[in-house]
Amino acid sequence: MPGVPQHVAIIMDGNGRWAQARFLPRAAGHRAGVSALRVTINECLTKGCGIVSVFAFSSENWRRPPSEVGLLMQLLLEVLEREIDALSDKGVRVRFIGDRDSLALPLRERMGAAEARTSANSQLTLVIALAYGGRWDLVQAARVLARQCLGGVLSPDAIDEQSLGAALALAQLPDPDLFIRTGGERRISNFLLWNLAYTELWFTDVLWPDFGARELAEAFAYFAGRNRRFGQLTDTPGGSTC
Ligand code: IPE
Ligand code: IPE
Ligand code: MG
Repeated sequence: MPGVPQHVAIIMDGNGRWAQARFLPRAAGHRAGVSALRVTINECLTKGCGIVSVFAFSSENWRRPPSEVGLLMQLLLEVLEREIDALSDKGVRVRFIGDRDSLALPLRERMGAAEARTSANSQLTLVIALAYGGRWDLVQAARVLARQCLGGVLSPDAIDEQSLGAALALAQLPDPDLFIRTGGERRISNFLLWNLAYTELWFTDVLWPDFGARELAEAFAYFAGRNRRFGQLTDTPGGSTC
């Protein structure tokens, strides 16, 4: 569909406040957030947006109280087990980005199983950022390139945007066209720092569990109205600038 972003990146924020407003434990907000993600994926499938990258747990979220971290990890484990069949039936390919070594083995195993199970699917790629931080991503990419230099397969002078981009977690995927953040904050919170360089940004006060088809349509309509110049004077990539 014309005007539909190919890749949407979402910071699903506001689960805790949604629960608190209802005098419910924060866990209830995170559970409701899973339903909102299901709706969003279905809408993206319908509208023809082929890549959805969601921030599920940031490298800074480890700083939350152990009880909250524990319930989020438990929920992730449960959701992966419960949703993977339905996702696979819809043709969704699941991919995780983030520092896997920081996660417990049972979760890592389930993540690997979900990726293997859905690897041949092609209707939509769902990238789940888990224990992910944009700065972590740049650091691990720097290490990859440093090892290549030490191994003699790369010269430091040959390092360019392409080689660095290829060492990042989202390598092989195009940059997000549209970034959505719910929950009222207007910040990136260490999400895809490199990849968001030219992404259109859309923020809403709606809390993530309340995000649905209407809000997604609003975000897509905003995107469709943007004039993406990428530094040029026209919106035609490679178009005349004089
Ligand atoms: C986003 O909701 C989900 C995660 C960070 C895991 P929050 O838990 O940040 O909810 P608020 O921002 O406290 O309402
Ligand atoms: C961003 O939300 C991370 C996720 C949604 C996973 P936070 O709630 O952690 O962000 P800050 O702390 O308000 O910046
Ligand atoms: Mg938050």
